[in-house]
Amino acid sequence: MSMQFTHAIRGNFFDIAACVEQPDQLGPQLRHRPDGLLLLNQGRIAWFGEWQQGAALLPAGTAVTDYRDKLVVPGFVDCHIHYPQTEMIGAYGDQLLGWLQRYTFPVEGRFGDAEHAENISAFFLQQLLSNGTTTALVFATVHPQSVDALFSQAAALNMRLIAGKVMMDRHAPEGLLETPEQSYRQTRALIRRWHGRQRLGYALTPRFAPTCSPQLLAQVQRLRQEFPDVWLHTHLSENRDEVAWVKELFPQHRNYLDVYHHYGLTGEKSVFAHCLHLEDAEWQCLCDTRSSIAFCPTSNLFLGSGLFKLQQAWRRRVRLGIGSDVGAGTTFNMLQTLGEAYKVAQLQDYKLAAGEAFYHATLGGARALALDDHIGNFDAGKEADFVVLDPAVSPLQQLRYANSRTLDEVLFMLMTLGDDRNLYRTYVDGKVVFQAPQRQEAA
Ligand code: GUN
Ligand code: ZN
Repeated sequence: MSMQFTHAIRGNFFDIAACVEQPDQLGPQLRHRPDGLLLLNQGRIAWFGEWQQGAALLPAGTAVTDYRDKLVVPGFVDCHIHYPQTEMIGAYGDQLLGWLQRYTFPVEGRFGDAEHAENISAFFLQQLLSNGTTTALVFATVHPQSVDALFSQAAALNMRLIAGKVMMDRHAPEGLLETPEQSYRQTRALIRRWHGRQRLGYALTPRFAPTCSPQLLAQVQRLRQEFPDVWLHTHLSENRDEVAWVKELFPQHRNYLDVYHHYGLTGEKSVFAHCLHLEDAEWQCLCDTRSSIAFCPTSNLFLGSGLFKLQQAWRRRVRLGIGSDVGAGTTFNMLQTLGEAYKVAQLQDYKLAAGEAFYHATLGGARALALDDHIGNFDAGKEADFVVLDPAVSPLQQLRYANSRTLDEVLFMLMTLGDDRNLYRTYVDGKVVFQAPQRQEAA
């Protein structure tokens, strides 16, 4: 059999073979190949299997990259993040509504300046890649320039990235507000410019119900009808004061989610960040409409928002991915984010196993974004986005690693003790886009 490929990688691989409906179905899908072979054809996976079987496909003299002393996993998927908040990460003292007024809105106000947007976009994308995140669903600001800056740089890397212009027309400083008609026109132009270009996707991004008038939500609905293929990305039920405020602002609606649902904004490509204080009917609606949740543990703890009910999400069969939610979240790093997710679950007597955690951060997140046909594992035909982890980089990690017997222990150690130091290389579209600086001589 002859095989068309451009790059051969031998290594210690871990991924999840298929999506599951319940966590107890994950076991058979966890795929560990301590001596595997990954063949790339440009930006795609051409073949994945055991080295023993695949070596026969390689013509004599083929150059093979060897990662048998590393751990190669699919690129991480960050299902909720705000790029303009990069420079205000770790802002002290407030919960959601005060935090938005005091820290967030002033910083977002600067993104009308295209040069600033370009600088922060470049920094942001480097943070994603140096933390192993190869796909993200991203909030920009209300300014169209903020979206152009991010997408043009993601296009240069050929990243699979989804983003959108914030839509908001009330309850924020004047400079960040727009009219519903303006929001419609600018968003439509951005969709036409960017959606489906290379690997980019557009998400309609109404900030959250409190900053959207009914007239603006009607324009979001109009866009969704005109462009049924775009994503919808917003916040839902993060903070108790926020939930009470939505009840005041939209008294005719049954609950918070009903505001979005009423305007046709639920569905398979809709992602709702947080979902901490949902009523029964809201869980049901998420399930019935096949909408997705972005669980953002570091943000939820940092803003004191609450504890996400992971077990409930499984019970209700709602799709779920993990979000860093920078700048309310405190790290870009998915390993650290999974470690915090574990603690959130612990506080509610749910044991988040390492395999499950990595599922949420890779294939499960891809599915939450309706991208699991393209990314999320090493299946042949998928896009070649993956990360090479160094499983032990500090004396403490090395000691613990030496005392780890199973892959499960190694994965759990990584999510408990790991951080950006564990990133050795990141591949996007089959190319190395990040290389750990201290090890460049080994390239
Ligand atoms: N709700 C509305 N806007 C925001 C935001 O920027 N961050 C978070 N965490 N929640 C929000
Ligand atoms: Zn957010």
